[in-house]
Parts: sequence; structure tokens; C-alpha cells
Amino acid sequence: MMKLSNLLFEEEQQNGYDQSLVGKLIGQGSSRMVYEYSNDKVIKFSEYYDQNKQEIKVYKCLTKKYATQIFDYDKSPKLKWIIAEKAIVDAIEVKDKLIDLLELYEQEYVEMSIPDFFDTLAHSLTLIITSRINTDKRRDIVKTIEYIQFSSWGKEFVSRLENCKVYPIDFNEFNWGIRESTGEVVLVDYGFEYFPPKY
Ligand SMILES: Nc1ncnc2c1ncn2[C@@H]1O[C@H](COP(=O)(O)OP(=O)(O)O)[C@@H](O)[C@H]1O
Ligand SMILES: [Mg+2]
Repeated sequence: MMKLSNLLFEEEQQNGYDQSLVGKLIGQGSSRMVYEYSNDKVIKFSEYYDQNKQEIKVYKCLTKKYATQIFDYDKSPKLKWIIAEKAIVDAIEVKDKLIDLLELYEQEYVEMSIPDFFDTLAHSLTLIITSRINTDKRRDIVKTIEYIQFSSWGKEFVSRLENCKVYPIDFNEFNWGIRESTGEVVLVDYGFEYFPPKY
């Protein structure tokens, strides 16, 4: 494994990427660049201190049951990097597993496109978390909310999100993964830091 002290942290180096120090680029989000760090770890660089800070805070609460493990992070005030468990980011497989976990046993869910499925899920979770379940009249959303609240995995997941103040609107198809060692579904991006007041 590469030594942390070998990584680049200086301002002028942060945009560059030295192949000899970190592995290949495996993902890019709205604000983070994610590189392979070792066989089973990634290193996530953020330009914004808040996002990594939020992810670390949320991890301590959500725990590895629902989130990719965090092994280490930049202890400097910039909080530029996090070393996390490498998950398999495969939306088709995640969707299949979520259908089972949330007991979404209707053809409609199987046939839903990947973006629609994850949008519906993120939207439904957000309405539950913010106690606004009665504000949406979309049939698919209303139905999905019922499924989530009925399944035991869904109930437990929602209560963890509430407890940890995680706002799920950003749970799109790129932000879920599968834990290689167990096949569990885990969040790979839980650094979204907005949380609205409850209605
Ligand atoms: N722990 C991880 N294991 C595997 N891939 C990851 C992991 N974390 C992030 N990625 C990949 O990198 C992408 C960007 O990371 P993400 O945390 O979503 O950044 P952002 O907060 O900028 O959206 C993700 O969509 C995913 O494809
Ligand atoms: Mg993301």
C-alpha cells in the first residue's frame, strides 16, 4: 500500500494526479475525484472541505452497515482526502438488490430504467425523511413510499437516515455500491450536507 506521506497535498498539485502515487481514476462526482488506492481501498479527494467533513461525520453514525467504510482521512483543516473501502459501483446489480431488500416485487420496478428507479427511490426517501409523504401525488412515489415503510430493511434504513440526519435526495445510481466481501448494498457517497427543517 502507498504511504499517505507520499501523496500530494499541496495547492498546486491538487489538480494534477501522479500515477506513481495513487492508482487509476475510478470515479468522478460533482466535486470529488476518486482514485484506486489499493486493491480494496479508494482515495477520495475533495475540493470542498464540507463534503468530506460531512461524510466522516455521517459515517460514524450510519456505520459500515449502510456505508462504505472510512479507514483514514486528512487530519489537516483542509480535510482534502478520505481513504475508504472500495465498493463495486454497478447500478444494475444495486437495483436488483434494492428490489429484494425493499420487497419491490412488481414488474413495474423491474422494468423501470436505472435513472428512473433511483430517482423514484431518492425522491420517496426524501419525502419520508422530511415528513412530507402527503405532499406528493405521483402514483409511483406514493406506492414506493409504502413499500419502503413496509419492508424491514427499508424501515431500518429510514430510521438510520433520520437519526444521522442524512438527506437522501442525492442517492442516485452513482452513489450506491456493493460491498465486495459480503454482497451488501452500501452508500458510496453520503457527503451531501444539506438537511432541511421538518415540516
Ligand atoms: N468507496 C467507493 N468505492 C468505489 N467507487 C467509489 C467509491 N466512492 C466513490 N466512488 C466512485 O466515484 C464517484 C464519485 O464519488 P462521490 O463520492 O460520489 O463524489 P461526489 O460527492 O463528488 O459525487 C462515485 O459516483 C463512484 O462511481
Ligand atoms: Mg456522488
